[in-house]
Amino acid sequence: MWIPILAAALAGLAVAWPTTTTTTPTTTALNFQPSGGLGTNSTPPFYHPLSDFDFQSLNLALNQQLLELDLFHFGLAKFTVQDFQDVQIFEADRFLIQFLADQKVSHATLLSNMIGEQAANQCTYQFPFQAVREFINFSQQIAAIGESGILGFIEHLNSRAAAQLLAQTLTASSREQMIFRQYEGLFPVPVDFQTAITQSMMWTMLAPFIISCPAGNPVIEFQNFPGLNVVNNPDPTPFINTSTPDNNTDPAITHNRSIPLSFPGRQVNLTWELPGQAIGPNSSFVTNTTAGAPQFVAWISQLNTTYTVLDNIVNQTGTTIQPNGTVFGNGSSAVVNATMFIAITDEDIFVTPFNISMINAHIVAGPAVYQAG
Ligand SMILES: *[C@@H]1O[C@H](CO)[C@@H](O)[C@H](O)[C@H]1NC(C)=O
Ligand SMILES: *[C@@H]1O[C@H](CO)[C@@H](O)[C@H](O)[C@H]1NC(C)=O
Ligand SMILES: *[C@@H]1O[C@H](CO)[C@@H](O)[C@H](O)[C@H]1NC(C)=O
Ligand SMILES: *[C@@H]1O[C@H](CO)[C@@H](O)[C@H](O)[C@H]1NC(C)=O
Ligand SMILES: *[C@@H]1O[C@H](CO)[C@@H](O)[C@H](O)[C@H]1NC(C)=O
Ligand SMILES: *[C@@H]1O[C@H](CO)[C@@H](O)[C@H](O)[C@H]1NC(C)=O
Ligand SMILES: *[C@@H]1O[C@H](CO)[C@@H](O)[C@H](O)[C@H]1NC(C)=O
Ligand SMILES: *[C@@H]1O[C@H](CO)[C@@H](O)[C@H](O)[C@H]1NC(C)=O
Ligand SMILES: *[C@@H]1O[C@H](CO)[C@@H](O)[C@H](O)[C@H]1NC(C)=O
Ligand SMILES: *[C@@H]1O[C@H](CO)[C@@H](O)[C@H](O)[C@H]1NC(C)=O
Ligand SMILES: *[C@@H]1O[C@H](CO)[C@@H](O)[C@H](O)[C@H]1NC(C)=O
Ligand SMILES: *[C@@H]1O[C@H](CO)[C@@H](O)[C@H](O)[C@H]1NC(C)=O
Repeated sequence: MWIPILAAALAGLAVAWPTTTTTTPTTTALNFQPSGGLGTNSTPPFYHPLSDFDFQSLNLALNQQLLELDLFHFGLAKFTVQDFQDVQIFEADRFLIQFLADQKVSHATLLSNMIGEQAANQCTYQFPFQAVREFINFSQQIAAIGESGILGFIEHLNSRAAAQLLAQTLTASSREQMIFRQYEGLFPVPVDFQTAITQSMMWTMLAPFIISCPAGNPVIEFQNFPGLNVVNNPDPTPFINTSTPDNNTDPAITHNRSIPLSFPGRQVNLTWELPGQAIGPNSSFVTNTTAGAPQFVAWISQLNTTYTVLDNIVNQTGTTIQPNGTVFGNGSSAVVNATMFIAITDEDIFVTPFNISMINAHIVAGPAVYQAG
């Protein structure tokens, strides 16, 4: 479906955006320019997909932006000023959420312009919250999924120019994720590195919230893995505000939260689905796995994918133990913290952020968000 746009652009036909500059860059060697680098010469940047991989990845990112746009507007409209005030979110705080919604409009516009006339339009969504703090919690997690999903593919795009603009989108969106953590009373950034996941992982976690999409939207070709549920996910926003200062969950720039949400050695109970379930927009996607029998739980966080053994397997249920370890040893942050992702796998293959997609073929179910801290 991407070929017409690509062909048109390669044939030098006009594309809507970006507008061409009036001055022609010089082709002579620049002073103070070390040799090497990519895309540093005078070739005009091409801010569009250069491959099916690019098209599908940017399309997925656009779908994420459209979902967030709807989410922020919906949350602001659903709850009253009093509902927000009851959980210490006041007028200026609500305006910030409004600004983030407007920022999503800009991000969606950028992605639509990069994709061209086939760009996806807004879908209809279902969001699982009934209270302001649930809205904040959900938005924080959706923002983390978007951030990690883009981090997983941005360095693999054929179009480095498109990646440039996406990076500028991503860094703005990262602030959004942190802002929601602060509204939730969480430690704003308890990790040293943001996590990268694959497009199929991102799509698996987004699809359940999309009810239907217009017929003209490009079909998302990434895999939908079978669903995974964390039975005892740590809950950062309990309704009971205990009077313990270290347990205070009111919105703040930061709380120490010295009583951590989770800890190494914690037992985690899991349930998962079998493949073949209809999912996503118009229930027109089918969950799929190419993995063998479930054996491990992959903890995907920061620079690391750490495996623990899946125990007590009975049908589609099992347990595991939260792993220990820091990213770099002494002084660096715990691998398992913040909003991270766990998945059930058939093997414990070693992967690092740039080849994380090698894990896709081994996923039995998931990923799901694990709210470690
Ligand atoms: C926050 O998210 C976690 C993980 O999805 C969930 O278990 C918990 O119930 C949520 N809490 C609220 C108040 O929404
Ligand atoms: C996560 O980081 C916070 C802030 O540094 C810390 O208080 C908490 O103990 C950490 N949680 C885990 C599970 O390591
Ligand atoms: C999905 O369902 C909606 C509402 O019934 C319909 O308008 C739309 O055309 C459908 N989309 C696809 C891709 O079939
Ligand atoms: C987790 O599983 C264990 C044993 O399988 C069980 O004893 C425990 O009650 C479960 N906890 C939750 C929260 O489901
Ligand atoms: C902290 O809050 C959680 C969630 O409400 C509660 O289960 C726990 O008992 C609290 N801890 C303390 C020390 O107050
Ligand atoms: C929550 O508890 C803290 C004390 O830890 C208190 O200062 C704050 O007012 C409480 N918030 C609400 C909304 O009750
Ligand atoms: C916050 O935690 C740090 C590290 O444990 C500690 O040094 C500091 O005293 C704590 N501050 C407060 C106000 O609890
Ligand atoms: C985690 O590792 C630290 C440092 O090696 C150790 O002190 C602690 O006991 C370990 N915790 C668990 C639950 O294994
Ligand atoms: C998963 O996808 C493969 C390849 O398209 C297909 O052969 C298989 O039947 C699918 N499995 C399920 C459960 O749909
Ligand atoms: C596991 O699944 C089988 C087949 O559906 C069923 O007969 C059995 O009762 C299930 N076991 C448990 C513990 O749910
Ligand atoms: C986490 O990843 C870093 C970078 O690859 C590595 O040096 C470190 O040993 C890993 N930590 C753990 C606990 O696996
Ligand atoms: C870790 O830090 C402690 C305290 O600063 C120090 O005594 C110890 O030697 C360090 N260990 C390593 C492996 O660097």
